[in-house]
Amino acid sequence: MNKGIPILALDLPDIEKARIMVEQLGDSMSWYKVGSVLFTKEGPGAIEMLKKANKKIFLDLKFHDIPNTVAGAIRQCVSMGIDMLTVHASGGFTMIAKAVEAAATEADLIGLPSPKIIVVTLLTSLDSADLQNDFDIKVTPEEITKKLVKVAQEAGAHGVVSSPNELFMIRKYFSHDLLAITPGVRPSWSKNSDQKRVMTPVEAVNAGADFLVIGRPILQADNPKQAAETILEEIREVTHG
Ligand code: C5P
Repeated sequence: MNKGIPILALDLPDIEKARIMVEQLGDSMSWYKVGSVLFTKEGPGAIEMLKKANKKIFLDLKFHDIPNTVAGAIRQCVSMGIDMLTVHASGGFTMIAKAVEAAATEADLIGLPSPKIIVVTLLTSLDSADLQNDFDIKVTPEEITKKLVKVAQEAGAHGVVSSPNELFMIRKYFSHDLLAITPGVRPSWSKNSDQKRVMTPVEAVNAGADFLVIGRPILQADNPKQAAETILEEIREVTHG
């Protein structure tokens, strides 16, 4: 059974707003995603705030550089106590493999748990026309995603980020041990904002998602805690968790 754990995308401009949101949500939310918006302003302070609140941390900085540089960044993540983090599939097999290795060896060295290395496949903002025009890639987004998931799995990554529409393909062709993480999740009662190809939390869990990244339906709700609780309740009905 897929876990269907919600992760709040903490896309807020500063640490005070982030802290207020974390306090407001209390025990309703265990996992938080820190991305480039908050991390660029607040750096490790944002991570420390979440650690003090006893939260699980998904650091989404989508590392993409030469293997040696990415390995160095990953070692910093281990010492910060990150639980999961993202690297870009387009960094290639060697970069992903080095990231996995750096996480494990650094964790051993300093006696902390190893963060899970999650590979961002194809950005959902890219469509077939972009692939053709910008990169001369003629295959469909789903085909290129399948190839990138294969590279990620072979390089030893612990999971992948994909659009909800690609979950069926990932569950069909790849190991069920590979964590499937998806953004583009919208409860039926919330606005779609700029996410185009969306699924409800229940649909995403049924399609095979282990983790659901959800931002604005909670962040912009009149009552964020109630919105989070409603989402959790909907998920519990299908996971019987
Ligand atoms: O507010 P919303 O629920 O759309 O937030 C989704 C989160 O997932 C944001 O932090 C966004 O950057 C991230 N994301 C995404 N689509 C991707 C990859 C990441 O929406 N393909």
